[in-house]
Amino acid sequence: MTEPIFGDLGRIVVVIPTYNERENLPLIVGRVRAALPEVHILVADDNSPDGTGDIADELAAADDHIHVMHRAGKQGLGAAYLAGFDWALEHGYDVVVEMDADGSHQPEQLHLLLEALRDADLVLGSRYVRGGSVVNWPKSREVLSKGGNIYTRVMLGIPLRDATGGYRAFRAETLRKLDLTGVESKGYCFQVDLARRTVQAGLRVREVPIEFVERAIGDSKMDQRIVTEALWRVTVWGAQDKAEKVRRAVSGRKAHDHGGW
Ligand code: GDD
Ligand code: MN
Repeated sequence: MTEPIFGDLGRIVVVIPTYNERENLPLIVGRVRAALPEVHILVADDNSPDGTGDIADELAAADDHIHVMHRAGKQGLGAAYLAGFDWALEHGYDVVVEMDADGSHQPEQLHLLLEALRDADLVLGSRYVRGGSVVNWPKSREVLSKGGNIYTRVMLGIPLRDATGGYRAFRAETLRKLDLTGVESKGYCFQVDLARRTVQAGLRVREVPIEFVERAIGDSKMDQRIVTEALWRVTVWGAQDKAEKVRRAVSGRKAHDHGGW
């Protein structure tokens, strides 16, 4: 076996959530294995009707670096990742990576995230920092994504250019410090939820440029419900954060008025 490149980071697992990705799964798994042979993979499949789960089982039977989690049914990207994170922590991994199954997040760029993780607690693969890009997205999707990121930045006051993206590397320690049992996000706003929690915990979040390539096979699972959930959750989080700031300011002033601390 070749010497691991990221041995200093410990054991690394890439969690890949899948729903109807039967053609994409063998391709992405093969690319991850070729790019970084030391890395393990967990496929978190929501009982895909197209049989992705069976393909995952076949891949796992042939390779001890591949693992599968079969979930009861389609419960959203956030729920699949939370279950995957629990599995990764239980199995003693030191780094947990998020990656889509459809090739949008290129395994050949994973080393960029891991290098940056050496002095960060969470690394975001970012489309919207200098050097980052999106290939083959329809204009409508680009507008939605950019608009969502601006709204998130304004509402939450977090200094991230791409808080909605889904190519990330967490230190296991970071996940342990966040209260994951309190995460209610079901869909893609899970990404914003975790970025916000990590920033608020005072941890180091770094963004590195990635090239996001729109899928060539299969369909996006993004729908109106996912957009609506993101919009209302970000709005509620923003309002809560502002109320909390006001509460702190008022209680600080009261303490001052009473001559106390
Ligand atoms: N297990 C499971 N359950 N997997 C799911 C579910 C689900 O309910 N919904 C989606 N997935 C999987 C898909 O099979 C794919 O591997 C990955 O999650 C991303 O889904 P896509 O449907 O391809 O997402 P996208 O390309 O529209 O959105 C991408 O961009 C978003 C906005 O930047 C993703 O990277 C999102 O994470 C990101 O928020
Ligand atoms: Mn996609």
